[in-house]
Amino acid sequence: MSAELQMEQVKVRYGGFTALNHVTLHVPARTTLGLVGESGSGKSTLARAVAGLLVPDEGRMSLGGRPLEKRRSREQRKQIQMIFQNPDASLNPRHSVRRILSEALRFHNMTRGRVQTEQRCLELLERVRLSADSLDKYPHEFSGGQRQRIAIARALSVEPELLIADEPTSALDVSVQRSVLELFREIREELNLTVLFISHDLGVIHAVSDTVAVMRQGELLELAPKEAFFAQPQTNYGRELLAAVPKMPTASGLVR
Ligand SMILES: Nc1ncnc2c1ncn2[C@@H]1O[C@H](COP(=O)(O)OP(=O)(O)OP(=O)(O)O)[C@@H](O)[C@H]1O
Ligand SMILES: [Mg+2]
Repeated sequence: MSAELQMEQVKVRYGGFTALNHVTLHVPARTTLGLVGESGSGKSTLARAVAGLLVPDEGRMSLGGRPLEKRRSREQRKQIQMIFQNPDASLNPRHSVRRILSEALRFHNMTRGRVQTEQRCLELLERVRLSADSLDKYPHEFSGGQRQRIAIARALSVEPELLIADEPTSALDVSVQRSVLELFREIREELNLTVLFISHDLGVIHAVSDTVAVMRQGELLELAPKEAFFAQPQTNYGRELLAAVPKMPTASGLVR
């Protein structure tokens, strides 16, 4: 399942400060938008507005043609799932993986009964390449990369239409980043999800995106197909960003 995300003239202010300034953005269904920009440019603010974690001051948003209002229905909260930079902040350390995954399933009535829930938990673990014996373990028994896989499994458990990932690999070692990025590519292809993927790392953006969006100071400066952006950014700022990428192999394999 997958749906188009539309944002029209969305504005977010924190007190007197404008963090998002009339952003208009369309993410077609089943594509990954890579959102890049310097620290403080408003990437997380955009993500939080779409996820319903904050309410924009102006503008309209919709998913699959249905408006995303101030108050989201339970169905809409299910449709949009978010993955954060630090899995430790989003996984309860006192809950086993079985409990973490099955609570999300039960909350949204995704499964009936213990056997079906267990079955679905095992499928989810397989999807994120964790072994079945992970079910009875606790978050501290995993590496950072594995914990991020648990967070991804939980996000996928409710069969979302839009997945928002805010710097999901930034806290991980480069070697681990690569395998988590590979997982994102698989997810996009196999589950046909629409993905909003945020990173300040252009190598990471190159690895996962279909389309690249560049933000600066709360504005959307540039929006282009990945190949077009990496061949020739249309703005000076886009060119600066690209020029700053080290000419070295990165986690994503981008060599310049
Ligand atoms: N709750 C808040 N109250 C006031 N200002 C905020 C709040 N959250 C963010 N800001 C400010 O809004 C701007 C955009 O922040 P945001 O977190 O969206 O940036 P970002 O692009 O995600 O940056 P980073 O790459 O560092 O994560 C920044 O100047 C930030 O200081
Ligand atoms: Mg951020």
